[in-house]
Amino acid sequence: MSSQFVGLMDLPAVPVFHGIQLFSIAFVVLAFTSRLFFRGRTLGKALPTPGGLPWAGPVWAVEASNIYTTFKAWSEKFGKLYEVKLFGQNLIIISDPAIAKEILAKKAKTVSDRPALALVKGSKDSGKYLPFLGNNDHLTRQRRFGVLINNYTHQANYHGRMLPEATRFAHQLLTKSDSPFMLVDQVCGRLSCRMAFGTPAPRAAISRSAHNFMQNLSPGGQITNVLTFLRHLPSWINSDKHNESMRVDIEDRVWYGSYDKAKAAYENGTLRASYAKYYFDQREKTGLSEHEALHGIAMMATVSILTLIAPLQRWIVVMAQHPEWQEAVQKELDEVLHGRMADYDDSPKLPTLRATILESVRWASPVPTGIPHRLEEDMEYNGYHLSKNSNVLACDWSMCRSNEYYKDAETFNPSRYLDPDSPAYKEPLTEFPKLQNHSVFGWGRRTCIGQDYAAIQMLVVCAAIMYAFNISPPTDPKTGQKTKLNLQELLSTPNVIPIMEPIDIDFTPRSDAHAQRLQEAYRSSQIQDAEQEEDECL
Ligand code: HEM
Ligand SMILES: *[C@@H]1O[C@H](CO)[C@@H](O)[C@H](O)[C@H]1NC(C)=O
Ligand SMILES: *[C@@H]1O[C@H](CO)[C@@H](O)[C@H](O)[C@H]1NC(C)=O
Ligand SMILES: *[C@@H]1O[C@H](CO)[C@@H](O)[C@H](O)[C@H]1NC(C)=O
Ligand SMILES: *[C@@H]1O[C@H](CO)[C@@H](O)[C@H](O)[C@H]1NC(C)=O
Repeated sequence: MSSQFVGLMDLPAVPVFHGIQLFSIAFVVLAFTSRLFFRGRTLGKALPTPGGLPWAGPVWAVEASNIYTTFKAWSEKFGKLYEVKLFGQNLIIISDPAIAKEILAKKAKTVSDRPALALVKGSKDSGKYLPFLGNNDHLTRQRRFGVLINNYTHQANYHGRMLPEATRFAHQLLTKSDSPFMLVDQVCGRLSCRMAFGTPAPRAAISRSAHNFMQNLSPGGQITNVLTFLRHLPSWINSDKHNESMRVDIEDRVWYGSYDKAKAAYENGTLRASYAKYYFDQREKTGLSEHEALHGIAMMATVSILTLIAPLQRWIVVMAQHPEWQEAVQKELDEVLHGRMADYDDSPKLPTLRATILESVRWASPVPTGIPHRLEEDMEYNGYHLSKNSNVLACDWSMCRSNEYYKDAETFNPSRYLDPDSPAYKEPLTEFPKLQNHSVFGWGRRTCIGQDYAAIQMLVVCAAIMYAFNISPPTDPKTGQKTKLNLQELLSTPNVIPIMEPIDIDFTPRSDAHAQRLQEAYRSSQIQDAEQEEDECL
């Protein structure tokens, strides 16, 4: 048996099993008694609701691929705090930043749990998937570790890998070695694997595994995530369950395999700076079991791929529709950097570029519904009763597209951050506009821990694109004309983080000189032969 399974066999299978059984029994007893005692007792008046069928809710109003637009429409009718039952779950939807802060941040103690994922067994308490852990000791330890390794990598300027990878990406756009959206996938995956394991080698396998994970945890990805009672059916009837157990087998192979390779490299002194190296160096200090560390590292790689593909794709399609903003960014790059490519420390000099990035995230939020926080206790807020076990969502789409918080919210307009007369303008321009602290990163104790990483990768990669290319919608082969992108349709998504279907965008070199300079930059980045990816799954 290969060494990658040893970690699994080390797990205390029996006690965990008993633990889960006891937990379920205790849960049922608790649920039952609390019902007897507290029937009819509430902490305030009921929240407004669109109503609907008894268990299913207002199903007719819900379109799976852009439920966030429905959430926003409801907020205009029922207010900035309402609840809706959908397929047996009670959702409390917040559409206002102040309320999100009051509930999710100020009362974080009772609203920092996550709902269990229907298909992904043990999502809350197996210590594997940080973003989906319940409010428990695994969360405390893994989150501390996550913050630590992210901070360490940030301090180390991403080990100098951002610019070389962005250069490689731009060079591949030039040589058209793959379609643009495949290349977006690759640059996000290579960077995330470098940060996690010190090498881009497992990129293809980790990336595939990440996409499958997103599918199997999203309401729109598999039907069992909507009709959650289906999880009780055996897997020969419910094929989602079969799919999920195959997914976990592959994930184990890939995650343990990548980790074991990093460990072997560490032992012979060849492991590069990475989350893995940090762990091997500081093992005692982290207080993590090897199981937790391995999953912490691999999960971080997984999260940072998906979360960055989405905003990068969105920035590209929005900018393709706005040549005037491409021109503004190129002017800034040319004036400030005098023909060199931007790196992580050039951020203070590039407010126009940052404005386009922030505005693309606002205009096309990459986490439009928010990520659910589960309410562990009944709560009163402003005279309303928020009931225990509800899933609380701070709907980013509603906040970002509200005319109350943003003038002309439907319009993509980066100058709202650059024009001193605009309400969204903030100084100093060396710091603002900035992505960090945006509502898209969530609220309270579960806020995103990768905000600096996201801001820097977006900056360096988007700058590399604008350095060398003009981007435009695809050319219709029949008419020879540029097509108009249907952004509404492109932004629709059945998944929690909206990855688009591949589309062709034209990347045209700004000039021959620009193409040549990019080729030179690529040659001198010394990245072309070193550290190739492994073709096959580990
Ligand atoms: C623009 C890119 C990104 C966006 C929009 C984003 C968004 C989010 C959101 C909405 C949450 C949940 C917040 C909540 O529950 O209130 C979250 C959590 C998280 N993010 Fe990000 N993220 C991004 C990039 C990253 C990156 C690059 C990393 C890794 C380096 C990362 C790591 C995490 C982790 C580990 C969590 C889970 C925290 C927890 O559950 O306690 N994110 N992110
Ligand atoms: C991040 O690292 C720096 C330098 O190592 C340290 O001063 C700072 O306190 C750290 N921040 C966190 C949140 O750990
Ligand atoms: C699970 O199903 C999805 C499509 O629904 C498919 O793309 C994926 O390959 C399947 N995974 C496995 C491991 O069979
Ligand atoms: C060190 O170990 C790694 C991982 O097993 C291996 O790929 C590499 O060739 C080894 N290098 C040396 C110098 O032994
Ligand atoms: C985000 O905002 C809070 C206060 O609202 C502040 O304490 C924190 O330093 C900010 N973080 C960043 C990265 O700017």
